[in-house]
Amino acid sequence: MTIYSRILGTGSYLPEKVVSNQDLERMVDTSDAWIRDRTGIAERRIAADDEFTLDLAEKAARNALDAAGVDPQELDLIVVATTTPDRVFPSTACLLQSRLGAKGCAAFDVQAVCTGFVYALGVADQFVRSGTAKKALVLGAETFSRIIDWTDRNTCVLFGDGSGAVVLGASEEPGVMSTHLHADGDYADYLHVPTGVSTARAVLEEGRAYVEMNGPGVFRMAVSTLGRIADETLEHNHIDKSELDWLVPHQANIRIIQATAKKLDLPMDRVIVTVDKHGNTSAASIPLALDTAVRDGRIKRGDLFMIEGFGGGFTWGSALIRY
Ligand code: ACO
Repeated sequence: MTIYSRILGTGSYLPEKVVSNQDLERMVDTSDAWIRDRTGIAERRIAADDEFTLDLAEKAARNALDAAGVDPQELDLIVVATTTPDRVFPSTACLLQSRLGAKGCAAFDVQAVCTGFVYALGVADQFVRSGTAKKALVLGAETFSRIIDWTDRNTCVLFGDGSGAVVLGASEEPGVMSTHLHADGDYADYLHVPTGVSTARAVLEEGRAYVEMNGPGVFRMAVSTLGRIADETLEHNHIDKSELDWLVPHQANIRIIQATAKKLDLPMDRVIVTVDKHGNTSAASIPLALDTAVRDGRIKRGDLFMIEGFGGGFTWGSALIRY
Protein backbone atom coordinates (compact mmCIF):
# COMPACT_ATOMS: atom_id res chain seq x y z
CA MET A 1 0.00 0.00 0.00
CA THR A 2 1.38 3.39 -0.98
CA ILE A 3 1.25 6.06 1.69
CA TYR A 4 0.90 9.69 0.67
CA SER A 5 0.89 12.90 2.64
CA ARG A 6 -2.31 14.96 2.42
CA ILE A 7 -2.89 18.54 3.47
CA LEU A 8 -5.26 18.34 6.45
CA GLY A 9 -5.38 22.09 7.08
CA THR A 10 -3.75 25.41 6.20
CA GLY A 11 -3.08 28.57 8.19
CA SER A 12 -1.31 31.89 7.91
CA TYR A 13 -0.58 35.13 9.68
CA LEU A 14 0.31 38.65 8.57
CA PRO A 15 1.63 41.38 10.87
CA GLU A 16 -0.80 44.28 11.38
CA LYS A 17 1.38 47.09 10.08
CA VAL A 18 0.76 47.88 6.40
CA VAL A 19 3.50 49.72 4.50
CA SER A 20 2.19 51.11 1.21
CA ASN A 21 4.16 52.18 -1.83
CA GLN A 22 3.31 55.75 -0.87
CA ASP A 23 5.01 55.15 2.50
CA LEU A 24 8.12 53.98 0.62
CA GLU A 25 8.04 57.09 -1.60
CA ARG A 26 8.78 59.04 1.58
CA MET A 27 11.77 56.80 2.41
CA VAL A 28 13.62 56.26 -0.90
CA ASP A 29 13.66 57.69 -4.43
CA THR A 30 10.85 55.55 -5.87
CA SER A 31 7.23 55.85 -6.97
CA ASP A 32 4.03 53.89 -6.56
CA ALA A 33 3.78 53.68 -10.37
CA TRP A 34 7.31 52.21 -10.74
CA ILE A 35 6.76 49.58 -8.03
CA ARG A 36 3.33 48.53 -9.34
CA ASP A 37 4.49 48.46 -12.95
CA ARG A 38 7.73 46.49 -12.36
CA THR A 39 6.59 44.18 -9.56
CA GLY A 40 2.78 44.26 -9.09
CA ILE A 41 3.24 45.15 -5.40
CA ALA A 42 0.97 47.77 -3.81
CA GLU A 43 1.65 47.15 -0.13
CA ARG A 44 3.36 44.76 2.26
CA ARG A 45 3.14 43.92 5.99
CA ILE A 46 6.02 44.62 8.35
CA ALA A 47 6.42 42.99 11.77
CA ALA A 48 6.22 45.23 14.87
CA ASP A 49 9.50 45.95 16.66
CA ASP A 50 8.65 43.41 19.36
CA GLU A 51 7.33 40.77 16.95
CA PHE A 52 9.69 38.07 15.70
CA THR A 53 9.69 35.14 13.26
CA LEU A 54 8.71 32.71 16.02
CA ASP A 55 5.66 34.85 16.89
CA LEU A 56 4.56 34.85 13.26
CA ALA A 57 5.18 31.10 12.97
CA GLU A 58 3.15 30.32 16.09
CA LYS A 59 0.08 32.17 14.81
CA ALA A 60 0.16 30.45 11.41
CA ALA A 61 0.77 27.08 13.09
CA ARG A 62 -2.20 27.45 15.43
CA ASN A 63 -4.45 28.47 12.50
CA ALA A 64 -3.36 25.43 10.49
CA LEU A 65 -3.73 23.02 13.43
CA ASP A 66 -7.24 24.38 14.10
CA ALA A 67 -8.20 24.00 10.45
CA ALA A 68 -6.84 20.44 10.43
CA GLY A 69 -8.47 19.51 13.76
CA VAL A 70 -5.07 18.25 14.93
CA ASP A 71 -3.77 18.60 18.48
CA PRO A 72 -0.09 19.71 18.73
CA GLN A 73 0.67 16.56 20.73
CA GLU A 74 -0.28 14.42 17.73
CA LEU A 75 2.60 15.90 15.67
CA ASP A 76 5.53 13.65 14.75
CA LEU A 77 7.47 16.34 12.91
CA ILE A 78 7.81 20.13 12.68
CA VAL A 79 9.76 21.65 9.79
CA VAL A 80 10.14 25.43 9.60
CA ALA A 81 11.48 27.08 6.47
CA THR A 82 13.05 30.40 7.39
CA THR A 83 15.90 32.65 6.35
CA THR A 84 15.35 34.90 9.37
CA PRO A 85 15.38 32.71 12.51
CA ASP A 86 15.10 34.33 15.95
CA ARG A 87 18.28 32.70 17.18
CA VAL A 88 21.41 31.11 15.66
CA PHE A 89 20.26 28.10 17.64
CA PRO A 90 18.02 26.43 18.73
CA SER A 91 16.10 26.25 15.48
CA THR A 92 12.82 28.12 15.12
CA ALA A 93 11.15 24.70 14.87
CA CYS A 94 12.38 23.73 18.35
CA LEU A 95 11.25 27.07 19.82
CA LEU A 96 7.88 26.62 18.10
CA GLN A 97 7.56 23.07 19.39
CA SER A 98 7.90 24.39 22.95
CA ARG A 99 5.34 27.18 22.37
CA LEU A 100 2.86 24.66 20.96
CA GLY A 101 3.52 22.04 23.63
CA ALA A 102 4.30 19.37 21.05
CA LYS A 103 6.99 17.68 23.14
CA GLY A 104 9.26 15.00 21.77
CA CYS A 105 8.67 15.07 18.03
CA ALA A 106 11.46 15.82 15.54
CA ALA A 107 11.83 19.54 14.87
CA PHE A 108 14.26 21.37 12.61
CA ASP A 109 14.60 24.31 10.21
CA VAL A 110 15.42 24.27 6.51
CA GLN A 111 16.98 27.19 4.72
CA ALA A 112 16.35 27.60 1.01
CA VAL A 113 15.25 31.26 1.06
CA CYS A 114 12.24 31.83 -1.23
CA THR A 115 12.10 28.11 -2.11
CA GLY A 116 12.15 27.24 1.59
CA PHE A 117 8.55 26.13 1.90
CA VAL A 118 8.81 23.83 -1.12
CA TYR A 119 11.96 22.30 0.39
CA ALA A 120 10.29 21.91 3.80
CA LEU A 121 7.25 20.29 2.21
CA GLY A 122 9.49 17.98 0.16
CA VAL A 123 11.35 16.83 3.29
CA ALA A 124 8.18 16.37 5.36
CA ASP A 125 6.53 14.48 2.50
CA GLN A 126 9.42 12.00 2.51
CA PHE A 127 8.99 11.46 6.27
CA VAL A 128 5.29 10.74 5.79
CA ARG A 129 5.71 8.53 2.70
CA SER A 130 8.33 6.42 4.48
CA GLY A 131 6.05 5.91 7.49
CA THR A 132 8.40 7.83 9.81
CA ALA A 133 5.79 10.51 10.54
CA LYS A 134 2.00 10.35 10.47
CA LYS A 135 1.33 14.01 11.15
CA ALA A 136 3.67 16.86 10.23
CA LEU A 137 3.52 20.63 10.60
CA VAL A 138 5.28 22.49 7.79
CA LEU A 139 5.81 26.23 7.85
CA GLY A 140 7.36 29.14 6.05
CA ALA A 141 7.91 32.09 8.40
CA GLU A 142 9.95 35.21 7.77
CA THR A 143 10.76 38.66 9.09
CA PHE A 144 12.62 39.58 5.91
CA SER A 145 12.28 43.26 6.83
CA ARG A 146 15.13 42.67 9.32
CA ILE A 147 17.65 41.85 6.56
CA ILE A 148 16.63 44.68 4.23
CA ASP A 149 18.54 47.92 3.82
CA TRP A 150 15.65 50.39 3.98
CA THR A 151 17.73 52.98 2.14
CA ASP A 152 18.25 50.71 -0.91
CA ARG A 153 15.41 51.21 -3.40
CA ASN A 154 16.57 48.21 -5.46
CA THR A 155 15.52 45.80 -2.72
CA CYS A 156 13.41 47.49 -0.03
CA VAL A 157 10.32 47.83 -2.22
CA LEU A 158 10.15 44.09 -2.88
CA PHE A 159 9.84 42.31 0.46
CA GLY A 160 7.43 41.85 3.37
CA ASP A 161 6.93 39.77 6.52
CA GLY A 162 4.49 36.93 7.18
CA SER A 163 4.01 33.22 7.81
CA GLY A 164 2.06 30.31 6.41
CA ALA A 165 1.62 26.69 7.44
CA VAL A 166 0.14 23.36 6.46
CA VAL A 167 -0.56 20.24 8.51
CA LEU A 168 0.19 17.03 6.61
CA GLY A 169 -1.32 13.67 7.48
CA ALA A 170 -0.59 10.15 6.20
CA SER A 171 -3.26 8.95 3.78
CA GLU A 172 -3.96 6.24 1.22
CA GLU A 173 -5.22 8.98 -1.11
CA PRO A 174 -2.85 11.51 -2.70
CA GLY A 175 -2.14 14.22 -1.47
CA VAL A 176 1.23 15.46 -2.38
CA MET A 177 1.84 13.63 -5.64
CA SER A 178 5.46 14.65 -6.17
CA THR A 179 8.02 17.20 -5.06
CA HIS A 180 10.98 18.42 -7.12
CA LEU A 181 13.91 20.19 -5.44
CA HIS A 182 16.96 21.73 -7.12
CA ALA A 183 19.83 24.10 -6.45
CA ASP A 184 22.82 25.66 -8.22
CA GLY A 185 25.23 27.27 -5.75
CA ASP A 186 27.31 28.79 -8.59
CA TYR A 187 24.76 31.64 -8.51
CA ALA A 188 25.25 32.41 -4.80
CA ASP A 189 26.30 36.02 -5.42
CA TYR A 190 23.23 36.91 -7.55
CA LEU A 191 21.03 37.16 -4.48
CA HIS A 192 22.48 37.02 -1.01
CA VAL A 193 23.17 38.51 2.40
CA PRO A 194 26.97 38.40 2.49
CA THR A 195 27.10 38.14 6.29
CA GLY A 196 26.91 34.80 8.07
CA VAL A 197 27.71 33.68 11.56
CA SER A 198 31.21 32.52 10.66
CA THR A 199 32.01 35.57 8.54
CA ALA A 200 30.16 38.11 10.62
CA ARG A 201 33.10 40.01 11.98
CA ALA A 202 34.79 40.48 8.62
CA VAL A 203 31.71 41.38 6.63
CA LEU A 204 30.02 43.56 9.24
CA GLU A 205 33.07 45.82 9.20
CA GLU A 206 32.19 46.54 5.55
CA GLY A 207 28.56 47.11 6.56
CA ARG A 208 27.09 44.44 4.25
CA ALA A 209 24.50 42.74 6.44
CA TYR A 210 21.53 43.13 4.10
CA VAL A 211 20.05 41.58 0.98
CA GLU A 212 22.06 42.32 -2.17
CA MET A 213 20.60 41.36 -5.51
CA ASN A 214 21.27 41.38 -9.23
CA GLY A 215 17.60 42.04 -10.03
CA PRO A 216 17.56 41.53 -13.81
CA GLY A 217 19.81 38.44 -13.48
CA VAL A 218 17.48 36.89 -10.90
CA PHE A 219 14.47 37.78 -13.03
CA ARG A 220 15.82 36.07 -16.17
CA MET A 221 16.87 32.93 -14.31
CA ALA A 222 13.57 32.74 -12.39
CA VAL A 223 11.44 32.89 -15.52
CA SER A 224 13.38 30.25 -17.47
CA THR A 225 13.86 27.93 -14.48
CA LEU A 226 10.24 28.04 -13.33
CA GLY A 227 9.08 27.19 -16.86
CA ARG A 228 11.40 24.15 -16.88
CA ILE A 229 10.34 22.91 -13.48
CA ALA A 230 6.66 23.16 -14.40
CA ASP A 231 7.37 20.83 -17.35
CA GLU A 232 9.36 18.46 -15.12
CA THR A 233 6.48 18.26 -12.64
CA LEU A 234 3.82 17.56 -15.26
CA GLU A 235 5.95 14.99 -17.11
CA HIS A 236 6.81 13.16 -13.88
CA ASN A 237 3.10 12.72 -13.13
CA HIS A 238 2.06 12.05 -16.75
CA ILE A 239 -0.50 14.81 -16.65
CA ASP A 240 -1.33 17.51 -19.14
CA LYS A 241 -1.24 21.17 -18.11
CA SER A 242 -4.96 21.40 -18.93
CA GLU A 243 -5.67 19.14 -15.92
CA LEU A 244 -4.33 21.74 -13.46
CA ASP A 245 -6.98 23.65 -11.54
CA TRP A 246 -4.62 26.14 -9.91
CA LEU A 247 -1.09 27.47 -9.84
CA VAL A 248 0.08 28.66 -6.41
CA PRO A 249 3.40 30.33 -7.21
CA HIS A 250 6.03 31.98 -5.05
CA GLN A 251 5.02 35.63 -4.90
CA ALA A 252 8.08 37.62 -5.96
CA ASN A 253 6.96 39.63 -8.93
CA ILE A 254 3.73 39.61 -10.94
CA ARG A 255 5.70 39.51 -14.20
CA ILE A 256 7.49 36.29 -13.16
CA ILE A 257 4.12 34.80 -12.14
CA GLN A 258 2.49 35.80 -15.44
CA ALA A 259 5.34 34.22 -17.42
CA THR A 260 4.89 30.88 -15.60
CA ALA A 261 1.11 31.02 -16.04
CA LYS A 262 1.57 31.63 -19.76
CA LYS A 263 3.91 28.65 -20.03
CA LEU A 264 1.15 26.52 -18.42
CA ASP A 265 -1.62 28.10 -20.58
CA LEU A 266 -3.39 29.03 -17.35
CA PRO A 267 -5.56 32.16 -17.35
CA MET A 268 -4.68 34.49 -14.48
CA ASP A 269 -7.99 33.77 -12.74
CA ARG A 270 -6.62 30.27 -12.02
CA VAL A 271 -3.40 31.63 -10.54
CA ILE A 272 -3.34 32.61 -6.86
CA VAL A 273 -1.84 36.08 -6.60
CA THR A 274 -1.12 37.78 -3.28
CA VAL A 275 2.04 39.68 -4.22
CA ASP A 276 0.01 42.90 -4.55
CA LYS A 277 -0.88 42.83 -0.85
CA HIS A 278 1.99 40.81 0.69
CA GLY A 279 5.07 41.64 -1.40
CA ASN A 280 7.70 38.90 -1.41
CA THR A 281 7.58 37.15 1.98
CA SER A 282 10.26 34.62 0.93
CA ALA A 283 9.58 31.16 2.44
CA ALA A 284 6.17 32.30 3.70
CA SER A 285 4.79 33.38 0.35
CA ILE A 286 3.51 30.06 -1.00
CA PRO A 287 1.72 28.85 2.16
CA LEU A 288 0.30 32.37 2.63
CA ALA A 289 -1.10 32.31 -0.90
CA LEU A 290 -2.39 28.76 -0.44
CA ASP A 291 -4.16 29.58 2.82
CA THR A 292 -5.68 32.72 1.27
CA ALA A 293 -7.19 30.70 -1.58
CA VAL A 294 -8.37 27.84 0.67
CA ARG A 295 -10.08 30.23 3.08
CA ASP A 296 -11.76 32.34 0.38
CA GLY A 297 -13.12 29.14 -1.17
CA ARG A 298 -11.23 29.14 -4.48
CA ILE A 299 -9.18 26.00 -3.78
CA LYS A 300 -11.55 23.18 -2.85
CA ARG A 301 -11.09 19.55 -1.80
CA GLY A 302 -10.18 17.47 -4.85
CA ASP A 303 -8.61 20.36 -6.78
CA LEU A 304 -5.23 19.77 -8.41
CA PHE A 305 -2.62 22.50 -8.03
CA MET A 306 1.06 23.12 -8.54
CA ILE A 307 3.27 25.12 -6.21
CA GLU A 308 6.59 26.43 -7.47
CA GLY A 309 9.32 28.65 -6.11
CA PHE A 310 12.68 30.17 -6.96
CA GLY A 311 15.11 31.95 -4.68
CA GLY A 312 18.60 32.60 -3.42
CA GLY A 313 21.14 29.84 -3.85
CA PHE A 314 19.88 29.63 -6.50
CA THR A 315 17.29 27.16 -5.27
CA TRP A 316 14.10 26.16 -7.02
CA GLY A 317 11.40 23.57 -6.56
CA SER A 318 7.82 22.53 -7.16
CA ALA A 319 5.14 20.14 -5.99
CA LEU A 320 1.98 18.77 -7.53
CA ILE A 321 -0.78 18.47 -4.93
CA ARG A 322 -4.35 17.15 -4.89
CA TYR A 323 -6.08 19.17 -2.15
N1 ACO B 1 12.11 52.76 -7.83
C1 ACO B 1 12.46 53.46 -8.91
N2 ACO B 1 13.45 53.08 -9.73
C2 ACO B 1 14.13 51.95 -9.39
C3 ACO B 1 13.81 51.19 -8.26
C4 ACO B 1 12.76 51.65 -7.46
N3 ACO B 1 12.39 51.00 -6.35
N4 ACO B 1 14.63 50.14 -8.21
C5 ACO B 1 15.42 50.21 -9.28
N5 ACO B 1 15.13 51.32 -10.01
C6 ACO B 1 15.74 51.80 -11.24
C7 ACO B 1 17.11 51.22 -11.46
O1 ACO B 1 18.07 51.95 -10.73
C8 ACO B 1 17.27 51.40 -12.97
O2 ACO B 1 17.63 52.73 -13.22
P1 ACO B 1 18.71 53.07 -14.38
O3 ACO B 1 18.14 52.51 -15.64
O4 ACO B 1 18.79 54.55 -14.32
O5 ACO B 1 19.95 52.37 -13.93
C9 ACO B 1 15.84 51.22 -13.49
O6 ACO B 1 14.97 51.37 -12.35
C10 ACO B 1 15.58 49.87 -14.13
O7 ACO B 1 16.10 48.89 -13.28
P2 ACO B 1 16.06 47.39 -13.65
O8 ACO B 1 16.73 46.66 -12.55
O9 ACO B 1 16.51 47.17 -15.05
O10 ACO B 1 14.47 47.14 -13.62
P3 ACO B 1 13.70 45.80 -13.86
O11 ACO B 1 12.65 46.01 -14.86
O12 ACO B 1 14.63 44.64 -14.04
O13 ACO B 1 12.97 45.60 -12.46
C11 ACO B 1 13.18 44.29 -10.48
C12 ACO B 1 13.73 45.47 -11.28
C13 ACO B 1 11.76 44.59 -10.08
C14 ACO B 1 14.04 44.14 -9.22
C15 ACO B 1 13.23 43.02 -11.33
O14 ACO B 1 14.50 42.88 -11.91
C16 ACO B 1 12.90 41.79 -10.54
O15 ACO B 1 11.80 41.62 -10.06
N6 ACO B 1 13.85 40.86 -10.42
C17 ACO B 1 13.63 39.68 -9.67
C18 ACO B 1 14.09 39.96 -8.30
C19 ACO B 1 13.32 39.23 -7.27
O16 ACO B 1 12.17 38.92 -7.40
N7 ACO B 1 14.00 39.00 -6.18
C20 ACO B 1 13.37 38.43 -5.07
C21 ACO B 1 14.03 37.25 -4.57
S1 ACO B 1 14.16 35.98 -5.74
C22 ACO B 1 12.66 35.53 -5.98
O17 ACO B 1 11.91 35.56 -5.05
C23 ACO B 1 12.28 35.12 -7.34
